[in-house]
Amino acid sequence: MALVTTKEMFEKSMKEHFAIGAFNVNNMEIIQGIVRAAAKENSPVILQASGSAIKYAGHNYLLKLVQVAAEENSNIPIALHLDHGADFEICKECIDGGFTSVMIDGSKYEFEENVALTKKVVDYAHSKGVVVEAELGKLAGIEDEVHVSEDDAMFTDPNQAYDFVQRTGCDSLAIAIGTSHGAYKFKGEPKLRFDILEKVKEKLPNTPIVLHGASTVIPELVNMCNEFGGNIPGAKGVPHEMLKEAGQRGVSKINVDTDLRLAMTANIRKVFKENPSEFDPRKYLGPARDCIEEVVRNKIKNVFCSSNKA
Ligand code: G3H
Ligand code: 13P
Ligand code: ZN
Repeated sequence: MALVTTKEMFEKSMKEHFAIGAFNVNNMEIIQGIVRAAAKENSPVILQASGSAIKYAGHNYLLKLVQVAAEENSNIPIALHLDHGADFEICKECIDGGFTSVMIDGSKYEFEENVALTKKVVDYAHSKGVVVEAELGKLAGIEDEVHVSEDDAMFTDPNQAYDFVQRTGCDSLAIAIGTSHGAYKFKGEPKLRFDILEKVKEKLPNTPIVLHGASTVIPELVNMCNEFGGNIPGAKGVPHEMLKEAGQRGVSKINVDTDLRLAMTANIRKVFKENPSEFDPRKYLGPARDCIEEVVRNKIKNVFCSSNKA
């Protein structure tokens, strides 16, 4: 099957109250691990590449890898999405270059500037049949190269969200309700502002809502990294039960990158530590790919509840 937009999968997610995983990709093993899991669960899936992933792997390499994954798994819908598009130019490159969905991340700008930039991307994307995710509100932590301190963290205002969607015509909206990017999301107990999500959904019942910074920072993988020579103490993410609730309460797209990084690194570290004489990349990338598949499959089945929703 050719790559699809997120339109139909989001409509189904809103009707049937489940979420779709959007997983960040940088190389072949990550793509294969994710898509194998989605195919086994008969689930729709979104593969997303950030600007830095495109810089690292190359636009065409990523595009072709994802296209092959879609051809080989024609029973499930797969979308290719630009994650955190920083400006109009990168969105245009992806729209012209085979992506089916782009995010324009204007959250670092003032409201009016965010509206104007988002609208410009939406007008261009829609003329080419591509859908657009926008963001309103600021996540705590690190957004690509933009650093937002926790004090600056700004939750999404539901009234503003309504206004924003009416004026921009964006297809989906990322909101800030307490998540953040990376492996250190909470100092104390994890907490999400479900009250804000509820108000946003009241105002925008037909707009798919997106949750960034939604890795669980799976404790077993953090421990495994640390056990085999890593140093990432005190890492903490969004518990799976909270993400499940988010999916049931109207979040349609849940973004995961950090958990995939941990899965890959933990397994490579293990092979290196246990077999210092090993130098065949297939011997450490293979287990890393298998672990990504296992992590993604568990999320699809038990957290996002998108099994058999293809
Ligand atoms: O939200 C950001 C994603 O985790 C992508 O990160 O820009 O390092 O590829 P990256
Ligand atoms: P995590 O760092 O929690 O995996 O978030 C990923 C993300 O939001 C990608 O846009
Ligand atoms: Zn993000």
